[in-house]
Formats: sequence, C-alpha cells, structure tokens
Amino acid sequence: MSDIQSVLNENRVFPPSDAFVKQANVSGMAAYQAMVDASQKDYPGYWANLARENIQWKKPFTKSLNDSNAPFYKWFEDGVLNVSYNCLDKHLTTQPEKIAIKFEADDGKVTHINYRDLHARVCQFANGLKSRGIKKGDRVIIYLPMSIEAVISMQACARIGAIHSVVFGGFSSKSLQERIVDAQAVAIITADFQMRGGKLMPLKSIVDEALALEGCDVIKNVIVYKRAGGEMTFNAQRDVWWHDIETNQAKVCEPEWVDAEHPLFILYTSGSTGKPKGVQHSSAGYLLGTMLTMKWVFDYKASDVFWCTADVGWITGHSYVAYGPLAMGATQVIFEGIPTYPDAGRFWKMIQDHKITTFYTAPTAIRSLIKLGGDLPAKYDLSSLRLLGTVGEPINPEAWMWYYNVVGQGRCPIVDTWWQTETGCHMIAPLPGAMPIKPGTCTLPIPGIQVAVVDETGLEVDGTHGGSLVIKKPFPSQIRTIWGDPDRFVSNYFPEEMRGFYLAGDSAHRDEDGYIWIMGRNDDVLKVSGHRLGTMEIESALVSNPLVAEAAVVGRPHDIKGESVVAFVVLKGARPADSATAKKLIEDLRNWVGKEIGPIAKPDEIRFGENLPKTRSGKIMRRLLRAIAKGEAITQDVSTLENPAILEQLKEVIK
Ligand code: PRX
Repeated sequence: MSDIQSVLNENRVFPPSDAFVKQANVSGMAAYQAMVDASQKDYPGYWANLARENIQWKKPFTKSLNDSNAPFYKWFEDGVLNVSYNCLDKHLTTQPEKIAIKFEADDGKVTHINYRDLHARVCQFANGLKSRGIKKGDRVIIYLPMSIEAVISMQACARIGAIHSVVFGGFSSKSLQERIVDAQAVAIITADFQMRGGKLMPLKSIVDEALALEGCDVIKNVIVYKRAGGEMTFNAQRDVWWHDIETNQAKVCEPEWVDAEHPLFILYTSGSTGKPKGVQHSSAGYLLGTMLTMKWVFDYKASDVFWCTADVGWITGHSYVAYGPLAMGATQVIFEGIPTYPDAGRFWKMIQDHKITTFYTAPTAIRSLIKLGGDLPAKYDLSSLRLLGTVGEPINPEAWMWYYNVVGQGRCPIVDTWWQTETGCHMIAPLPGAMPIKPGTCTLPIPGIQVAVVDETGLEVDGTHGGSLVIKKPFPSQIRTIWGDPDRFVSNYFPEEMRGFYLAGDSAHRDEDGYIWIMGRNDDVLKVSGHRLGTMEIESALVSNPLVAEAAVVGRPHDIKGESVVAFVVLKGARPADSATAKKLIEDLRNWVGKEIGPIAKPDEIRFGENLPKTRSGKIMRRLLRAIAKGEAITQDVSTLENPAILEQLKEVIK
C-alpha cells in the first residue's frame, strides 16, 4: 500500500480572485485556519455551536457528541427537531414567494414552485401518506424520475418521520426487490413512466415485477404519480394515484417532532460483497452537514440559482437537491432529462436560460460533453456562473482545465468535492474564497474534519507517500449504521487495525502543500460514470445465470466513464465455438446483468476462459485480470499461478 505512487505531476495553481474573496462566506486562508483552530480547541463545542446556529430545534439539545458506544456515535441526541420544518416552514414568514424549484422537463417545459406552495404540497402529500396508514419509523421506497414530486415525497416522509429509501430509476426489479426486503418497506412511491431523452420508460411495471418476487408482500401501498399517462396495470387493492391522495388534503400538517438521531433515510450503496449496504443517516447531524457545506463549499448566497445535476437516487441528489438547498432557502433547478438531448448543448442552454450561478456535476458528464461538443459552451451566455463544482470520481486535469476555461471562462473557482454516501456531505473540498485550487485535487478538509493518509496498520505515512484515506474523528453527518447489519458497519468502516479511524475505502496521497489527491478505490468497488458498483454484485449477477460457472469482474480505465466493467466468465459448458455464438452469448449475459442489477451495471466487455487465473490456494488473481483487461503485457510474477495457459484464452477479445 505505502508504495502507491501518483503519476500525476500537476503544478498549476489558481488562487481565488480578489473579487471572489471579498464576497465569500469564508474569505482567505486565515479565516479558514481560524475555523480549523476553533474545531481543534473544543471539538464537541465547535459542532454544538454550529448546530445551535443553523438548526431550528423544537427542543434544544444539551449534549453534543456521545461516544460512549463507539463507533455508534450520537450527536445532539436529546434535541428534538423536524428536517422538513427546517427546509420549508422556516421560510414561510421570511420568503414565501421565493421560487424554491425551477423544474425543467425532458421536453423543455418549465414549472416553478415557490416556498409557500411547496410547503403546502408537502403537507398535503404528507397527510395523504398518513391517510394510507404510513407513520413514523415506517420505511418507504421512492422510485421516481427527477421531478418536483420526488422532492415532495422525500420531504413528506421526513415530515411524518417515515424513513425513505430512494432507489435510482435505472435499477432493475431485482434490485428493487432486494431493497424492499432488506428495508422491510411498507410502501412504494413511483410513477407510471419516466421521460428521458425523448423516450418513455416504464417505472410502474418494474415495480409490479418486483412485487411479484419473494418477500415483497410487505408492501401494502403503491402510490403512482402520473407522469405520462401511458398504458399500465393497476391493482385496485394496493395501488393508488398520487393525485387521489394529495388533493382534498389540508395544506397544513403538523410535523412529527423526532429525536436528533431519528433515521432520516436509508440509501443503498455498493460495497465489496454481493449485497448492497443500507447506509443509515440521522436527522440533525445530516441536516447540519448539508447546510454547512452549502455555505462553506458552495459559498451560498440568497441571490444564487443553484443547480446540482445529480439524480435523487444518489447521495448527491439527497444532500444537494432534496435537503441542503431547501434548508438554505435557495432557488434551485431540477432537470428531468439527459445532458445530450436534444443536443450536447442542453446543460449550457439551461445555465443561460435559468441564469444559473452555481453548477455542480460529475467529471464523467464533463468528459462526455467535451467529446460531443467542446466548443458548444461558447455559443451560450454563461456569464451568470460564479462557481463550478465536481463530484463522484477524480477529475483528470485536462477536463478540469476545460471546465475552468471554457465553462467558467477563467472566472469561476472549481470546487472538487470528495465525499461518499456514508459521509452525507462534502468532507474534503476547497472553500472557494480561501483555498488556491489545483486541477485534480480536492484540496483540504472542511473545517472540523480531520483526515489522514495511513498505512495498513493505521499509522500516518510520511510526506507525499500514498496510503488509505481515513477520517480521524466522528463527525455529525456520518453514517450511523448499516441498516440491519451493525456488525458489517463496524467491520467495514472501523476495522480494528485502523485504530478507531473511519476507513473511507479510497487510496490517496498528500502533496507538498498538504492537499489531498484521491487515487481511487482500494476495495472492490468500481466508479462507472460516477456510479458506484461492486464487482462482487456484478459477479453474483453473472453467476446466477444458469450457463455461468464462475465470473470475475474488474474495472478498466475509460476516457469518458472513468472506469468500464470487464467480465471474465467461465461457462458450465464449453467455451463458445465461434464468434457468432460468443457474440450472442455476450449480449444475453449483458442483458441478464441489466435485468439483475440495472443497465448501468452491464459489462462493456465479456471474455470467456476455461478457468480463471488463480493462485494455488484458489484465490482469483485480480491484479492479473486488470492487466489483461487493459491489454498490458504481463510483467507480474505468475509463478504462483495454478494454470498459466488460461491467460492466453482470456486475452482474446471477441469483436
Ligand atoms: O472513490 C471516491 C469517489 O466516490 C466514492 C464515493 O461514492 P458514492 O458513495 O457513490 O458517492 C459519490 C458522491 C459523493 C469515494 O469513495 N469520489 C467521490 N468524490 C470524489 C471521488 N473521487 C475523487 N474525487 C472526488 N471529488
């Protein structure tokens, strides 16, 4: 581990302009350092002050951090609040007319909703949920397209104390089933269809498929938002239209006041086993994290028009669409469609039309838009932009420079934000009026967060050596547990050798300025187009096909997606005799994975061998497979390999 070296040699540094520093919420490095010092002087007191200043409490807390049962930390535990109250009600007297959401549909139609009306709709829908018997602590699956209704659903659950679990609309019925059963959910909120890139794609029928699978009879209600009005089947006992339960409800709904630690949501994410983890977040600590990072990292101002392009199916869409912007009283844009429809200028046109000030997207989107039309931004008026952000994977310096010069016109700082589903909000990211930025690094931790790069024994590595990224102290927005699996929570994130530090699962190194450079995952998790996929999950999906005996999945660097999925498969029968048979089988297996997990997990390439390269003890040699997938010459020691002849078979690419 400690001999991990970075091959990047990046010397460009961009300090914030005087004009940006002057108006920033945190101006200059001295101000940043003062916050860091304050957090180090009195760690629990620092977070307690912030929680008092930022959250409206029904009953104030008296205790900041409870670490008596580490790593099951509790924050502000005797405080009582409601997250939806903090996102909506608090704005009713101060800015009821301010637009909360500008929704742009796939076809370009724009709908605005102000804070007063959003509050009213959330209350009506919350009352609707209650009318169906849904109550505090119940788990509710949300399987919706990007829409105002997706945000209303999440906020309405928060309002009544129900725990939502949003499932990305690209996941299959099988993935949906797995999450329903694990969470023991009682209801699903979905839509008839979703519209993306001019195409109508079913959602309700996928829910129906899931509900026919084992264990899904726990679902008593399916609430269906009519997005497109196409053909679909309706089960009168179980299914109900969204509009039928929303209309006629009162426009007020007293929030369910909950303890600070009440779970706000569960969000499933991939780990290094075949089974996704239900990451459980708290109410108060999570809310605090999203608000602070809106202020510090996004330098939020009341005049901003904020646009985070992430889907609410991912953590980014939770923290910077459904919660953070609303808690700050921001105006934000939500987009239903895809960046390339009707053409690759869609994002730039939307920035122009909505006068976006703060734009937050993923490196994979940036790379694909460079490829499809690097000159397109110049055709639009992007002068409203003042800040750019990226998230989800390392950004390569060329893409960073294009984003900085062509989209930001050299005027806008870029906040490269490192964080995870588990951390709830940004952990390492520039405060744009303080830190000089460099292409490819997420710079320094936000004030209060203490990170380190350590070796296998949890000791900090020297100088600029690489190692494992850890967070040294508990922080309010962190994961509380894995739903239903506290042991996995402890062993995954707080393994004994890490001395009580939170193990992020990424490798990283620091440069001479102490800036952190993320080098990628060091577990079996891939980042494909910014989406987190477990190699084991894809392997399990492949092996569940009756024709497959064994499978190994690795990532291969990809220009646009960051990584692509390459699968090595051993069939129960013989290897395909000719290329036509192989091609047909590859297509079948790709579709199989699409059905089992979702189209995002389909391997880009599948190769067949009579066996997989294994050590004499039977361990698959993944390092070797990664080299083969990249087409590299094998320079590694293969003397421990049980079956060297297999390598030649696995090098064969079927075209
Ligand atoms: O490997 C890191 C990468 O994404 C992982 C977390 O994935 P997920 O839980 O899906 O959350 C993504 C959105 C917060 C991390 O372990 N990652 C995230 N942000 C960055 C990053 N890698 C490099 N630079 C980043 N800014």
